Amino acid sequence: MSHRYAVFGHPVAHSLSPRIHAAFAAQFGMALEFAAIDAPPDQFEQFLARFAASGGRGASVTLPLKELALRLCAETSARARRAGAVNTLLHRDDGSWYGDNTDGIGLVHDLTERHRLDLRGRRVLLLGAGGAARGVAPALLDAGIGELWIVNRTSEKADALADALGEPGRVHTRYWKDLGQLGGFDMLVNATSAGRGGGGLDLPFSLAGNRALAVDLNYGEAAVSFIAWAGAAGIEHRFDGLGMLVEQAAEAFALWHGKRPDTDEVYDALSSRADALQTAD
Ligand code: ATR
Repeated sequence: MSHRYAVFGHPVAHSLSPRIHAAFAAQFGMALEFAAIDAPPDQFEQFLARFAASGGRGASVTLPLKELALRLCAETSARARRAGAVNTLLHRDDGSWYGDNTDGIGLVHDLTERHRLDLRGRRVLLLGAGGAARGVAPALLDAGIGELWIVNRTSEKADALADALGEPGRVHTRYWKDLGQLGGFDMLVNATSAGRGGGGLDLPFSLAGNRALAVDLNYGEAAVSFIAWAGAAGIEHRFDGLGMLVEQAAEAFALWHGKRPDTDEVYDALSSRADALQTAD
């Protein structure tokens, strides 16, 4: 039986993962079957078991299944446990699932390798404390940022994330209403889902420090409002989450196939038609 791969999500129809993995496979002359499987959370376990039985060997996991995926794994990487979520699954010969989380390293690779930005020592504002924020916070700390300030509409979730990160010297939380009193940041990360519903965030321009960078973990339409705000605030380096998406996929590809693909070609092809992109993966 030949190996099969897929992305699981709900919804998943607009996922770019099948296209990204097909392009990676083509670089190595590999034929790859990569499907998009819509799995409602209450049926995810069943769908995954059926996928494994039909030769499923690797899966990407996207919203809203990442936390659930962690619980279905027999073993997980340290970074998946730290994020409390799994975005990459590998089916092992003993029939169990191994889970990893490549989102955080994907973001760091995109910023440091593709965009050649140095993250070390930066004073970072993380907006949001949901799944996306949890996925990237540990990797940002590991990349050597100076301070991480977590601000979430529901302050208890920001406190819980800060506690889980366990670095009281570098990680701080503040109330959303106090954003205007925090001064300027060297890096602003939008990890909220506000833009996905077409809405935006009401943010003071005082958050934008000199030579700041702004990144939205969403891409396409969902990132437009935050990126536009960053432009109006005078922030020169502004990125959506497309680069992170391509980089996290490359890490997953390496786990499944033992080879790391070149990501520039795929990123360039997708960003040139970015206007057509509508949803976050
Ligand atoms: P994801 O997996 O994309 O992170 P999530 O876990 O549902 O999705 O988290 C969504 C995040 O966006 C949360 O931090 C949420 O804030 P709350 O914890 O207060 O719900 C944040 N968010 C969503 N809409 C928002 C809005 N209009 N303004 C500010 N924050 C918002």
